[in-house]
Amino acid sequence: MAISHRIIKAFVPCNIFILFCLFFFSLFVLYKPAHPDKSRRLGWQSWDVISLEQGGSNKPLEVEVGPTTRREAQEWWQTPMESLSDPDGASSLPLDIWAPLLAHRTGLTEIAIVSCMFPPDLTNYCDPVSTPEEDALKGRWVRVERDLSWKTGVWYLNVWYRRTRRFDVPLITSIMLLAESEESLLPEPKDQWRKAPGSLHDGVYPMQNKLFLWYKLRPPLQAPSPTQEDETEIITELDVLYGDSKPWYGFEKLEKEVTKGREGKTDSVWLTYRKGIKPAPRPLPPHFSHDGTFKIMQIADLHFSVSNGRCRDTDHTPCKYGDTETGSLLARALDAEKPDLVIFTGDQLNGQDTSWDAKSVLTKFAREVITRNISWAAVLGNHDDEATDLDRSELMQHLRLMPFSLAEPGPKNIAGAGNYVIKVRSPDPSKTHLLTLYFLDSGAYEPHPFVFWKPPSYDWIKPSQRDWFLSESSKINPIERPFTPDGANDLGHIWKSRSTDERQAIGGHVNGEVNRRLAKPNALMFFHIPLPEAYYEPDFGEMNAKLLDVGKQLEGPGAAKHNGGFFEEGVLRAPESEQGGTEVKVIGNGHCHLTDNCRRVHGIWNCFGGGGSYSGYGKIGFDRRFRIYSISDFGETIKTYKRTEHDDIVDEMVLVGQGAPAAYTGGGH
Ligand SMILES: *[C@@H]1O[C@H](CO)[C@@H](O)[C@H](O)[C@H]1NC(C)=O
Repeated sequence: MAISHRIIKAFVPCNIFILFCLFFFSLFVLYKPAHPDKSRRLGWQSWDVISLEQGGSNKPLEVEVGPTTRREAQEWWQTPMESLSDPDGASSLPLDIWAPLLAHRTGLTEIAIVSCMFPPDLTNYCDPVSTPEEDALKGRWVRVERDLSWKTGVWYLNVWYRRTRRFDVPLITSIMLLAESEESLLPEPKDQWRKAPGSLHDGVYPMQNKLFLWYKLRPPLQAPSPTQEDETEIITELDVLYGDSKPWYGFEKLEKEVTKGREGKTDSVWLTYRKGIKPAPRPLPPHFSHDGTFKIMQIADLHFSVSNGRCRDTDHTPCKYGDTETGSLLARALDAEKPDLVIFTGDQLNGQDTSWDAKSVLTKFAREVITRNISWAAVLGNHDDEATDLDRSELMQHLRLMPFSLAEPGPKNIAGAGNYVIKVRSPDPSKTHLLTLYFLDSGAYEPHPFVFWKPPSYDWIKPSQRDWFLSESSKINPIERPFTPDGANDLGHIWKSRSTDERQAIGGHVNGEVNRRLAKPNALMFFHIPLPEAYYEPDFGEMNAKLLDVGKQLEGPGAAKHNGGFFEEGVLRAPESEQGGTEVKVIGNGHCHLTDNCRRVHGIWNCFGGGGSYSGYGKIGFDRRFRIYSISDFGETIKTYKRTEHDDIVDEMVLVGQGAPAAYTGGGH
């Protein structure tokens, strides 16, 4: 009795003390003026609930063809797809959060540089001070959520700004970075320039001279509403870029970097700004050429970093920077192949702690494709969201808004991010859907939260994704195949020069009268991590009496250990027509850099891209390569080959259509 009494006496005050501590700590943690849910925030000065996706989840999944209005003497597909951002919606955007993807056309009134010992995400201890009157006049303080000394300093350092909808206050039109001794360099009229409090080198290690941000204020407008010229003059957004890549589309770098990178140690830090709003150019709607062809180039496993990347496992010389060398290789391959569509099949970002700021890497992985105005799509790999600041869904939202991108985040209620469909249509006015491209997110690693000692194993495609695929597939209408374009004059000469027998063969009926049939268009499917079935026994080709497996597997299986059943219960369950067959003919994967084979299993071709980057692992003697899908006869024939870093064309073969191995009739080898 005495003992327990003593224990209680000692225990109770102690517990009360701990509870109090926890209580206050939770208040501290919970009191975040920042917003609880990044995707839905209530805008200040506005009652709208804003989605950062700009309606991404409500839009139809399939990538729709462009506007229906056509000018005379112009093809329907010569009008780019509809713009994603809605400039008229800009008036209801929230002013008090930093969201550089949004099309803000409102101006900034004041800038401050703030350093803090504590993570500014968790506390408002260091926030710049303000009064309600100042907030009303100039807008509330907004933090640019990119730490200027992320890898270069000893504490947190952020740019803050105020944003307002008003035009009757002075707005910022220029920014300059000047050291203390350089203030005489300020352009005239000097009285329009203000110095932001705080040095941009505060806490930067090793210590550097102070650097200050100066901004120029435009006198208030007299007219009640601004002209277009007024709008393009004002700075509407600030962002931070790390490394030496180009800024995000529509943004410019300041003339001088905030902090210079140190070779091999740290990356440069740049402040970038946007004037007005500049939505990225949109691709043309995906379409076949008049000669019935459509060419896809697969780019697998780029493994790009914030810095210029490291060359791995290559005898390519000179090879100082992996990402830079890969850029030149890509440029060459793209110029040689001139694809209609590029598909990045995952691991665009290296993860492994070198792509820590995702946006700075996103601005460069697709650069060679974008500068050539080539449409592109992408899925995510297991490394893209590893050790970086954006999650998979945010990554897809960024990809979607890049120039010439067809990538989509896809529906929210199914597993993964980036499940979407692209439909390739005929060039004639009928806009017939002739080829389907499915994109799925094969995830990263199998989650086992309580079993942290087990080595991670790869993720798999989930039942919700299978159901989504089956539902998308069921919505596709059969067409009369093979397709013949409207009007005999439109017929490509290649098609006309074919004999009837050839056309019948392409249509899949060698004998008999019936050479046309109702069936869904052929489909290809792309995701990063292969299915376990990609390693099953290949089909046996009866015609040429050999295993249907072309290319190399120089490494072990890269599939998930767990078979989620997507092949059996998804791919094989989506028929091409009432007579059977499968709609999906080819599955394209990345993930395994030393694997580049195409293997037919149960009638489905499982094809790997083969590593295409000097920054990803490889093997000396096994060239970096890109897989091409050359599709002809308006989608009936699918040929593939690989282009290597030495410009060799290897393993050319027809997968589907005329010249392909006989159709699968059941039974493996
Ligand atoms: C590329 O696209 C841009 C923007 O849409 C356009 O202005 C330019 O003319 C295009 N260039 C080529 C070569 O098609």
